[in-house]
Amino acid sequence: MNNRFEKTDRRTHYCGTLTAANIGERVAVVGWCQKQRDLGALIFIDLRDRTGMVQLAFDEATEKSIFDAAFGVRAEYVLAAQGVVRSRGAEAVNKNMATGEIEIAVDGFKILSAAKTPPFAIVENSDVKSELRLTHRYLDLRRPDMAGNLIARSKITKLARDYYHENGFIDVETPILVKPTPEGARDYLVPSRVHPGKFYALPQSPQIYKQLLMCSGFDRYIQIARCFRDEDLRADRQPEFTQIDLEMSFVTEDDVIAVNEGFIKHVFENFMNLPLEVPFKRMTWHEAMERYGSDKPDTRFEMELCDISDIAAGCGFGVFSGAVADGGSVRGITVKGGASMSRKEIDSLVEFVKSYGAKGLAWYKNAEGAVSSSFAKFLTEDEVNALLTKMNVETGDLVLIVAAKNKVVFDSLGALRCEVAKRMGLIDKSKFNFLWVTEFPLLEYSEEDGRYYAMHHPFTMPMDEDIEKLDTAPGEVRAKAYDIVLNGTELGGGSIRIHSEELQSKMFSVLGIGEEEAQVKFGFLLDAFKYGVPPHGGLAFGLDRLVTLLLGLEDIRDVIAFPKVQNASELMSKCPAPADAKALEELCIAVTAEEE
Ligand code: AMO
Repeated sequence: MNNRFEKTDRRTHYCGTLTAANIGERVAVVGWCQKQRDLGALIFIDLRDRTGMVQLAFDEATEKSIFDAAFGVRAEYVLAAQGVVRSRGAEAVNKNMATGEIEIAVDGFKILSAAKTPPFAIVENSDVKSELRLTHRYLDLRRPDMAGNLIARSKITKLARDYYHENGFIDVETPILVKPTPEGARDYLVPSRVHPGKFYALPQSPQIYKQLLMCSGFDRYIQIARCFRDEDLRADRQPEFTQIDLEMSFVTEDDVIAVNEGFIKHVFENFMNLPLEVPFKRMTWHEAMERYGSDKPDTRFEMELCDISDIAAGCGFGVFSGAVADGGSVRGITVKGGASMSRKEIDSLVEFVKSYGAKGLAWYKNAEGAVSSSFAKFLTEDEVNALLTKMNVETGDLVLIVAAKNKVVFDSLGALRCEVAKRMGLIDKSKFNFLWVTEFPLLEYSEEDGRYYAMHHPFTMPMDEDIEKLDTAPGEVRAKAYDIVLNGTELGGGSIRIHSEELQSKMFSVLGIGEEEAQVKFGFLLDAFKYGVPPHGGLAFGLDRLVTLLLGLEDIRDVIAFPKVQNASELMSKCPAPADAKALEELCIAVTAEEE
């Protein structure tokens, strides 16, 4: 039998689209064999394509050469079949299959390609190890759930393009080979052959280019932009990822926020088929930290932080009073019904907060008739009572407290409340809680490096009322920056940008970037600012994260066709890989160490 694909093999219908309405029609289908069942005088093949499956039937009426060919078919063979759609008959209907009422009585058939037995079955929700799946990603993507994820991503991307275009945005591609900018995450570097010793970087984001496009007058820019960052990977991070990146001229924060809320609403109405209320709630960064210990709070459950530093400050328990005396704080959460936790479970929470830098976790278990605590004995009765009252502790509750520097307190309690909520099943997975977090600090001080870093990026505009503090108290300056948070994940972030050369230069100097260095690194931007620059601002959504959350998934790898694993390698093609000696020589690069 020939395996050429010919005109007569052309598909008339996708497998999953055939229904009882097609009974009596002549159709042609193509796809992969999901399963072949040989019942002697009867052979059935479930044929699969990206839309679903349909049953092919071969029986006494089938031409012998076709019947014989069907006999030899195995899983994952690629087939073309033609025939007439017929009813299966009431007793043979498969209710688990969308096309379960019908089958195709095959009278034309071809094996287009044979297949080895795949290393795992091509079925939905399989629990095959992720390493094996990623090594054979092309097979993994045949699984209906994975294919569905990529199809969903494609729809969401199209909705983004449509929405922003309809709102006057222009799609512009910015370069992938750019100038290295060692601010923010680590760059991926690309050596230049023509300029020995010089390097391009892969863009961490199109930030500077989109600002320059505003200087050029494009007014509204959008790009589905690939970004590259050499940073530690987590479930919501990849070294290369995609942003829905946009920038607008002559706008305030409210304008940027409104356009982007409109986009999310558009996606909810057209992809999720759910209504969505806008505007979203807003919360300042300060309030988010105080209430949730996080700048990306999950507001689907309560368990807010409570500051008990006032009670702790004067108490006889050195861990508490010492933290306050050192300029830190003592805060805690009240876990409603948490007294049912065993000592072992509480101990595991103690270990949990240690990974966020806390030295320990003080706890108070208010179980019915049996109070126990790791710290109550060090406090007076009045102090304990004051604490219980302030933290609204009732019978059956558990109190968890961290005393440390503020950063550690927030980091550990912010993560702990999410962990406890997860363990206790407090999270309503059907909720989509969007939130804008605003008024971020402009700068972040690094004790280690003894300098300030831009919390968002160095082009972010300080809030008008805080500009003078740039000289006196840089750490207190708030920025015209905003993040959009969904269910505890940072979905996107942006800001109004500095549009004056003078203020931009000042910002560089606060960041410890001298005039000469600023000229070398960002001279082209400062130059552009000399020729008339519109006030502008923008935002970028993480597309991978958006799709992951909308589909209710946990790992962004499930919405990326060929993702990298934790150590930034790609298991299927096995990259990164050593470069050819000749290529290195041309690039004037000497490798001084190699991975074993
Ligand atoms: P930012 O760095 O906040 O802002 O990035 C915007 C959004 O991109 C997503 N994101 C990531 N997704 C997957 N893997 C990663 N490693 C990763 N890093 C970031 C997040 C994040 O909210 N130029 C600015 C935007 C602007 O100011 O307009 C920027 O890149 O969802």
